[in-house]
Parts: sequence; C-alpha cells; structure tokens
Amino acid sequence: MIKSDICSLLGIKYPVIQGGMAWIADSSLASAVSNAGGLGIIGAGRNTPENVRKEIKRAKELTDKPFGVNIMLLSDNAEEVAKIVCEEGVKVVTTGAGNPGKYMEMWKQHGVVVIPVVASVALAKRMERSGADMVIAEGCEAGGHIGELTTMALVPQIVDAVNVPVIAAGGIGDGRGMAAALMLGAKGVQVGTRFLVAHECTVHEKYKQKVIDAKDIDSVVTARSTGHPVRVLRNKLTREFVNLEKQYASSEEIEKLGAGALRKAVVEGDVDTGSVMAGQIAALVKKQESCEEIILDLVEGAKKVISNLNGDVLV
Ligand SMILES: Cc1cc2nc3c(=O)[nH]c(=O)nc-3n(C[C@H](O)[C@H](O)[C@H](O)COP(=O)(O)O)c2cc1C
Repeated sequence: MIKSDICSLLGIKYPVIQGGMAWIADSSLASAVSNAGGLGIIGAGRNTPENVRKEIKRAKELTDKPFGVNIMLLSDNAEEVAKIVCEEGVKVVTTGAGNPGKYMEMWKQHGVVVIPVVASVALAKRMERSGADMVIAEGCEAGGHIGELTTMALVPQIVDAVNVPVIAAGGIGDGRGMAAALMLGAKGVQVGTRFLVAHECTVHEKYKQKVIDAKDIDSVVTARSTGHPVRVLRNKLTREFVNLEKQYASSEEIEKLGAGALRKAVVEGDVDTGSVMAGQIAALVKKQESCEEIILDLVEGAKKVISNLNGDVLV
C-alpha cells in the first residue's frame, strides 16, 4: 500500500488530501474524503465565521476521522475563522493566498497541524521558518488561484529547499499523476479538480457536467494582468475577461467582473457567466464517482505504476 510520514502525522490511511475549495468543499465532501481514508478539508473561502463553524460541527457528526479547514487569508473573516478552528478542536489547517505567520503561535498552542499552500521556493522556506509542519507545493496546472511554476518544476525544488514534508498539488488526476508526484519527492498529494465530480460533492450538477465535458485545452487563466491569476474552464465569462484585458482595463474593473462569479456557477449552476474553476486535468475526469472510489483509484493506480516501473523502463 502507498503510505508515507504524513499518514501518521495527520492520522490518515492514505496520503491523499482533498483541496479546500471555496463555496464547494463543505462538510459533506470533507467528511466523505476523511471516511474514505484521505484528509477532507472544509474550504472557508469568504464564508461567514458562523457558517464555517456550522460546517465544522456538521463534519464532526459525519466522521470520527481527522479533517481540516482551509483558510483563505485574503478573506475579511480569516482572523475569526483562524480562532474558530482552535475553539472547535480542528486538527489541521491549510492556508491559501498569503502568509499565515501571524496565526502560527495560536495554532501551535492548540496543537493544530499547519500546512500552507505555496507556489514558490521562497515562500516555502519562509513558511518552514515560521513553524509550518508541512507545505503543499501547488503548480499552475491547478484549478483556482495559481502561481507561475508547473507542478513538475516546483515540487522537486521545494523538496530540496525544506526539511518538512512536501505535498504536491496541481494536475494530479489519477494513479500516474500520484506516482509522478511521489517520484518528485512529495510525501502525498492534494487533489481538487477530480473531487469536484464526487457524488458527495454538493456543487451544482451543471458544474460537474462542465468538468466531465472539458477537453485538454479547455482550461484558461483569467485576470493575469491583475497579479491574481485564476484557472477556470472556458465560457462566456472567460471571453469577457479576455476582451477586458485586451482593452487594458484597470485591475478594479477586471476584479469586478470576477466578484461573486464562483458562487454563481457553484450554487446557481450558471456555467456560462459564472466562474467554473477547474484545473488542466479536468479532461482526464470522465465520470462521477464516490470519494472512496476516487481515493482507491489514486492509490491503487500509483502502486501499480510504481511496481510496473522496473519492467517498463529499466533494462
Ligand atoms: C473550484 C476550486 C476552488 C478552489 N478554492 C481554493 C481555496 O479556496 N483555497 C485554496 O487554498 N485552494 C483552492 N483551490 C485549489 C485546491 O485546493 C487544490 O490545491 C487544487 O485544486 C489542486 O489542483 P487540481 O485542481 O489540479 O487538482 C481551489 C480549486 C478549485 C478547483
């Protein structure tokens, strides 16, 4: 079986983390992933602190396994959510969009395992110095907000730069991707896009279908000119982004177009003018499955690829 240090550190069976996804990763998805042996994550996004607390309480009813909360540091509610995870005894926090340094001492005092998502070697090193227990190295193949480097280039550079375990994210959709991440030195993987179509994922049915229908070149990066690029699936909204950026529109104007657009796609199922965030690997995602089926496919697939390696490429 595929196992690594992070399994014992996080109290999980398989080294598979479900990415925190704003508006999408709720207690239903997180508890299903944790019950299946991975680490489920509730995505706090810009949700209200009260709702995040409710989701945490609900997840505790649905699973007795560890789960985590992803805190989007740009959110006005980040500070309050950072405290709620301590009050509710959440075991793991992942953070996106910034440096969680100022919360580190509080989390450490409450025994929370802290795993920042990083897209550069410099941030990975800074996070290790401020006490991060692990880092998630996320390449720009990923859905949602992204950095510049690809997973293939980023992961080994971060593995060489830090002593804490590194988890790879971005473009991992099956056992081959998981095996490749392990070969690069990662101790586990974080997967977002494939979990979008899990039975237990409550995202709108039209969103799931858009992911399933996606072809290889259907993901595009919007808002690059604002300095906050986002990977989404091509639609009417992405064409509007292109037009605005061609006209050298101001960052404010471009960001205004994106405001509320993810919720529109996730909750209302408007996949034309809403933001359908998903990664480059969407084209590999062909059907809806349970979280358990997805996790077993990843780990069994990785095991198969690794054990076949000798026969395939070594003479
Ligand atoms: C719809 C969507 C929303 C996301 N929202 C967040 C978020 O709120 N915070 C975060 O740290 N990462 C977010 N991510 C990134 C995921 O947590 C994960 O790292 C990424 O999806 C992994 O790459 P993959 O999409 O190729 O599987 C999001 C990804 C997607 C697809």
